[in-house]
Formats: sequence, structure tokens, C-alpha cells
Amino acid sequence: MRRSMVVANWKMYVSRASARVLLREIVDAVSEPPSCEVGVCAPYVYIPDCAEIVQGTCVLLGAQNLSDHKDGPYTGEISAAMLSEFGCRLVLVGHAERRYLYGENNLSVAARYLKAIEYGIAPILCVGETLEQREQGRTFQAIAEQLDTVISIAGIDSFTRAVVGYEPVWAIGSGQTASAEQAQEVHAFIRSQIASHSPRIAESLRILYGGSVKPKSAPELFAMPDIDGGLIGVAALNKQSFLEICNAVKV
Ligand code: 13P
Repeated sequence: MRRSMVVANWKMYVSRASARVLLREIVDAVSEPPSCEVGVCAPYVYIPDCAEIVQGTCVLLGAQNLSDHKDGPYTGEISAAMLSEFGCRLVLVGHAERRYLYGENNLSVAARYLKAIEYGIAPILCVGETLEQREQGRTFQAIAEQLDTVISIAGIDSFTRAVVGYEPVWAIGSGQTASAEQAQEVHAFIRSQIASHSPRIAESLRILYGGSVKPKSAPELFAMPDIDGGLIGVAALNKQSFLEICNAVKV
């Protein structure tokens, strides 16, 4: 049985003070060993504050991106080694906003994924189709390409230490959640792609759904057999709605 996981992606929505308050509230609420793993992906500059707050708790700290290089002359970049110095256990890789607004492509995403693996940080590999791809019936093709590049560069065994996030681009921040059936169909496809390399790894891989998840939509999504939790944007900015979503996971 896969352990469920819910991860907040705060994006660029929080101030330093509000991030501290929100994280303390989350840590206090999940101080018991929770029924699911709970993670928070914070903006880089708040990571030292957040590291202090999560220390000794079961809340996992994550970043929203990392460099595709180990070190060197890459002004403005943050490496996996730097993140691991602050105790980051998770990192989003290839989030749709990085791919479509900042030009990250399958190859650079795979390089970032590999850096995370090399430094012992669990990458949350984000995949998902655009509205155009969905309307043209190219959802599976787009996702297969996103997965294949990573598999060919990092190897299938790396997925024992990774998480996959399915985030349809049209559902992110739009208020339009994928239906539970639509999401399940793609999650099952992702698992089958991994299973074609290793059924064992596919069975244990956690695949999270992201895209306008709300306390109301979470129970139905999380009840699906291949949906192992969620990646939460706007609804994670409020303690109560985030915790309600955490409580909606399968146990
Ligand atoms: P929303 O929940 O705001 O749609 O964001 C989802 C997301 O991008 C999580 O990574």
C-alpha cells in the first residue's frame, strides 16, 4: 500500500511573516505521525526560516525548483547541494509554470531531476498536458514524452526515490479541477508507462494530482485507485483548507 502524500506549493504568494505563521500552524496540526506525508515547497528565500520551523517534525520541507547544474557560474541559480544544506527533502521539478513561462524543456527538467536524485532530495516530477494537447487527443503522447526523457537520462530505478505529480496545465490556478475520472485515467496511464519498465517500481510509485484541488474536490480525487495525494497551490495558502485536504487522503 502506497503512503499518501499532500504537498503545498506556495508559489510566490506568501510574505516571509505569513509563511512562518502558516508553516507553524501546519506543523502543530500534523505533529502526530500523520496518516499521510505532508510537505511544503517554499520560495527559496524562506527556506532557512522554514527549515528551522520543521526541524524535528514530520513535515517535509521542499523547494519549488533547482538548478540543472551541480555548481559553477550560474548567476541566480540554486543547486541541489545548497538545498540539501538546509534539509530540503523534496523539490518540484518541471512544474508547468516553469515549463511554459520560463522555457524549461524535457531535457533541462530531466537534468534537474537527476541533480535532485544525486543529492538525496526526492524530486516531484511534474507532468501534464496543455488544453490544446488535450483537445487534440495528445494528452498521453505529451505525458509519455515528459516521462521518457527522464527515464532515459536518470534510469527507471531512480523512480524508487521520486514522486510524480500530474498537473494538467488547464487546471492549474483556473478553478477548473480535472474530474476524478479524467485524473484517474491519466494517473493509470503514468503508472502503466512506468510499469512497462518495472512493474515493481510502478506499484510503489506515488502519483499526486495537482490543479485547483479544493477541500470539496479532494475526497473524490483521492478515492481513485491511482491518485496517491495532491499538489496544492491556492488552497494551501489557508491553514484550514490545506488541512482539510490532507485529511481527505486514503488511509
Ligand atoms: P492550484 O491548486 O492553485 O491550481 O495550483 C496547483 C499547482 O500548481 C501545484 O503545484
